Amino acid sequence: MRVLSGIQPSGKLHLGNYFGAMKQHIALQEEHECFFFVANFHALTTIQNPAELQALTLDVALDYVALGLDPNKAALFRQSDVPEVTELTWILATVTGKGLMERAHSYKDKITKGVQPSMGLFNYPILMASDILIYRPNAVPVGKDQVQHIEMTQDMAGHFNNTYKCDVLVRPEPLLGEAPFVPGIDGQKMSKSYGNHIELFDDPKIVKKRIMSIKTDSTPVEAPKNPDNCNAFAILKLLADEAEAADWAKRYRAGGVGYGDVKKRIVELFEQEFGPARERRAELAARPQEMEDILVAGAQRARKEAQETMKLVREACGLVCVG
Ligand code: ADP
Ligand code: TRP
Repeated sequence: MRVLSGIQPSGKLHLGNYFGAMKQHIALQEEHECFFFVANFHALTTIQNPAELQALTLDVALDYVALGLDPNKAALFRQSDVPEVTELTWILATVTGKGLMERAHSYKDKITKGVQPSMGLFNYPILMASDILIYRPNAVPVGKDQVQHIEMTQDMAGHFNNTYKCDVLVRPEPLLGEAPFVPGIDGQKMSKSYGNHIELFDDPKIVKKRIMSIKTDSTPVEAPKNPDNCNAFAILKLLADEAEAADWAKRYRAGGVGYGDVKKRIVELFEQEFGPARERRAELAARPQEMEDILVAGAQRARKEAQETMKLVREACGLVCVG
């Protein structure tokens, strides 16, 4: 199976990105042909400071490798190193109805959050469809919030194939991870744009402060509690093994659990999970050329696939003069 996914470098990565997407990406590299990219073209819709975009792009790549992505197994690359995606974006735009685009939730959500309503933001799902379809993957592992984009991608592949009576573009399926919805410290979806996130590689003191401020209700310690309604439990469950999570759930229901104790345990588990990666990341960050070489090699692999698809796409549309 061929797997592809991307992450925008629009801020520092957080627990939602890890459990909703990256953890699964990294696991998939063992069994499948994987392509993962840093979606820097997409990030231009919100980050328009060159130094910042460059730094955040490198950050995402470092995070991936520090967390276990093996560049010898999966191709890791920058979206913009495969410029063919912008060509396919145009071609897909010509077979995409405006009505389909107007139904996209993410455009409305982002405008509500104050993002500039540029044409780039409006066309975001077409660029995303293009950078999926150009690699002809079977599966796209993402969090729940991206499923509509994958469905739009399926529609666009179908429109293209119908219009040009061909089967050049392959219909991809979304692949939801173990935690399609990770709550933030306020209980809403964890997101950098809500300011409710816990960064993966922040200073450990700040991480601790963020964890200790996870919003919980005012049920007294002795009272029985429902673990399924508790943000702290939802986050603990991601980090603890099954037996430990089951034990905490039992103690919640029996009463006697203080939220402070749950949060302290989250701090310990967080450190166990991400402490070693933090060290690996610092070592990698000290050798930026190595990271650049990884991204360039990944782009070479990815671009070869993209160019093959584009040859078929151009032929299908009549963009070549000799048949
Ligand atoms: P953000 O909302 O912080 O801007 P992105 O939209 O860049 O995050 O998400 C990158 C990837 O991480 C996507 O596949 C997305 O589905 C996943 N993801 C982000 N936040 C969460 C979350 N809270 N729960 C589950 N998955 C998430
Ligand atoms: N839109 C995705 C997000 O915000 C990032 C993304 C861009 C992506 N292109 C993609 C994800 C292709 C999967 C496949 O998270």
